Amino acid sequence: MKYGHFDDAAREYVITEPKTPYPWINYLGNHDFFTLISNTSGGYTFYKDAKFRRLTRYRYNNVPIDNGGKYFYIKDGDTIWNPGWKPVKTKLDSYSCRHGMSYTIVRGEKNSISAEALYFVPLHCRGEVQRVRLKNTGSVKKSLKLFSFIEWCLWNAEDDMTNFQRNFSTGEVEVKDSVIFHKTEYKERRNHFAFYSVNTPIKGFDTDREAFIGLYNGFENPDVVSDGKSKNTIAHGWSPVASHYLEIELNPGEEKDLIFVLGYIENEDDKKWESKGVINKEKAYQMISDFDSSEKVDRALAELRSYWDELLSKYVLSSADKKLDRMVNIWNQYQCMVTFNMSRSASYFESGIGRGMGFRDSNQDLIGFVHQVPDRAKERILDIAATQFENGSAYHQYQPLTKRGNDAIGGNFNDDPLWLILSTTAYIKETGDFSILDEMVPFDNDESKAKSHFEHLEASFYHIVNNLGPHNLPLIGRADWNDCLNLNCFSSNPNESFQTTENKKGGTAESVMIAGLFVLYGNEFVTLCEKIGKSDEAKTAQKHINDMIEAINQHGWDGNWFVRAYDFFGKKVGSDENEEGKIFIESQGFCTMAGIGAEDGRAKQALDSVKERLDCEYGIVLNNPAFTKYYIEYGEISTYPAGYKENAGIFCHNNPWIMIGETIIGRGDEAFNYYKKIAPSYLEDISDLHRTEPYVYAQMIAGKDAFKPGEAKNSWLTGTAAWNYYAITQYILGIQPDYDGLVIEPCIPKKWDGFKITRKFRGDTYHITVKNPAHVSKGVKTTELDGNALASNKIPIVEDGREHEVTIVLG
Ligand code: BGC
Repeated sequence: MKYGHFDDAAREYVITEPKTPYPWINYLGNHDFFTLISNTSGGYTFYKDAKFRRLTRYRYNNVPIDNGGKYFYIKDGDTIWNPGWKPVKTKLDSYSCRHGMSYTIVRGEKNSISAEALYFVPLHCRGEVQRVRLKNTGSVKKSLKLFSFIEWCLWNAEDDMTNFQRNFSTGEVEVKDSVIFHKTEYKERRNHFAFYSVNTPIKGFDTDREAFIGLYNGFENPDVVSDGKSKNTIAHGWSPVASHYLEIELNPGEEKDLIFVLGYIENEDDKKWESKGVINKEKAYQMISDFDSSEKVDRALAELRSYWDELLSKYVLSSADKKLDRMVNIWNQYQCMVTFNMSRSASYFESGIGRGMGFRDSNQDLIGFVHQVPDRAKERILDIAATQFENGSAYHQYQPLTKRGNDAIGGNFNDDPLWLILSTTAYIKETGDFSILDEMVPFDNDESKAKSHFEHLEASFYHIVNNLGPHNLPLIGRADWNDCLNLNCFSSNPNESFQTTENKKGGTAESVMIAGLFVLYGNEFVTLCEKIGKSDEAKTAQKHINDMIEAINQHGWDGNWFVRAYDFFGKKVGSDENEEGKIFIESQGFCTMAGIGAEDGRAKQALDSVKERLDCEYGIVLNNPAFTKYYIEYGEISTYPAGYKENAGIFCHNNPWIMIGETIIGRGDEAFNYYKKIAPSYLEDISDLHRTEPYVYAQMIAGKDAFKPGEAKNSWLTGTAAWNYYAITQYILGIQPDYDGLVIEPCIPKKWDGFKITRKFRGDTYHITVKNPAHVSKGVKTTELDGNALASNKIPIVEDGREHEVTIVLG
């Protein structure tokens, strides 16, 4: 069943049934102030760091699901309802939730009152604006009561949900006119507070949760709303909240707007106080006045819309397939920007306290958004590089607030360094900005250890060369891309983490996946060296790559596919010799992407084996057969039930590696089939099974061995977004930025007649028409730029700031 529909012209997904199979959410905010908001107004807000600056409280894994958010209660006579249906759950006469590009509009109608709540974070603003538009659609005058409601979080989200012996005594607020200020700990070590305002005089307020809700009630029946009158409470400890109480009269046909602002303020040390114990509210009043009328809100919303118009104008597809167009032009790009902002920190599956920014994750995410925000991509690359060690290895994660490597999460994941080559070369190819290589970047966040960014890439490359195992393949370390294949861990203690516990000494476990990764991004390193005139360096590097190819040929081929790894004891992992886990996706992906076996048929053979053993109705599973018992020598991967997560789940992050591999050998139909299986817009009709949002990718879909194949989990924050975007735009549609031009090499289903793409690149706009009269998958027969035939399918950089027509004929 479908729970809504795409509105492509508005770039919105419109949900028309509030009881979606799981909360379907959106993200507000584009720089440092963020909100997660569900289709029933659930969710929370934070500033920069979802752990350390959580502004409003949220309870994960709650009963019922998604309880707590930004609620408006309307009391119309004896009927109490919310525009987003929850939490009161009064049956509405109509309901819709429009999730758009960084804004959400929740609209409900009941007994001739329509209430529309618009939520967004204006550009460059550390606050969320909410506009409630009430309209009397009936023929009699209405007198309504409206109560707003949010629950403050005491800043540190982890402490907030664990340290009650302290926290129940710390909460403090101030109320002035229509503004409620949350100032817990302001007088001590903090210089920040939050506020919640409304642009009209109020009849009352509440800031004490127990008084507002009632100790034994839920969000669905707060005492104050039932009584129709607030209590004007000031919270002292316990749980501070913010609720405004307003009375509104509406004549038939009349409409009124109320504007609420939820803001975050930091004051300089010498400007903290207005008078003893009273916070300086100057900056808050400034923000409130920036949005105190509907015109100002409209203007801010228009600015946000044009920001997104611009971001989404860089790559625009027009094909015969609407579902494809909406993925490529809207939702996949949008998800890439969200993963850029959030990394893996805050979603409805990531609690915002567990994970900071991943070294490998952030580098990979970059290939999904570098064309949209190249300057911010550059900054991100340099931030990441600064958490690398001098020997090329890296902190596995870092905290966004401090940008420093995070010791607590462990390290020694030997694939990490190579992803820096991917992100940096993608950045230079997009922008032509080689100067990034000369930037001085610290190692281990220590300025005294700064070296050029190029030397960071060199360190990445040589970290592999300097850490080879007995088969001359890369040592895997704690794990490679697959965090759960822990070949040196040998954990028998359920109370320790696979990620951080000490590894068994003397480990020589090797990864064929890293070997493929090294060949692929090692080649990128060589090309880069050549581009900047370091030909000796390029030659030496090439030798190491040739040695690696040799090692893969000798020890990485299992007869019908690529071996996955060698374990601690030197035994093959992902081989026909194994009883379970005979074949894994990662090494098939990276070896074929690197072109290994492309010439002698092994790449095709490996991909045929993927089709035969790993493919299923809902996507490609990670390994097969699934593990059915715990293998101490393999670690976490074998702790999952068969068909889930890294144990034979469809881990959507790695499916595009196979799609790209298929394009390398020219099989466009196979590549696009795999694409469609996991792209969310194609799954809208099976939402009951799929469960997560039909507009964004999930990290995992349960695989063929699972209890319920096809059921997705962990939507939004996943490398899936960037990789699928990269696969479809650069390898299937085939528009690849290169150092000195735009290479056009599509690999598409044979039956396609062609497609059109507008691509902005290095200041020019290319209108590209691809024609496929001979109905082939791959192979460019002719290329024309502005009516002139070109000798190759690389469009040179014109750089005249103009529009150009490109025509490509396949054949
Ligand atoms: C992590 C990635 C990892 C993947 C596969 C994700 O949860 O964020 O870094 O590559 O799992 O294990």
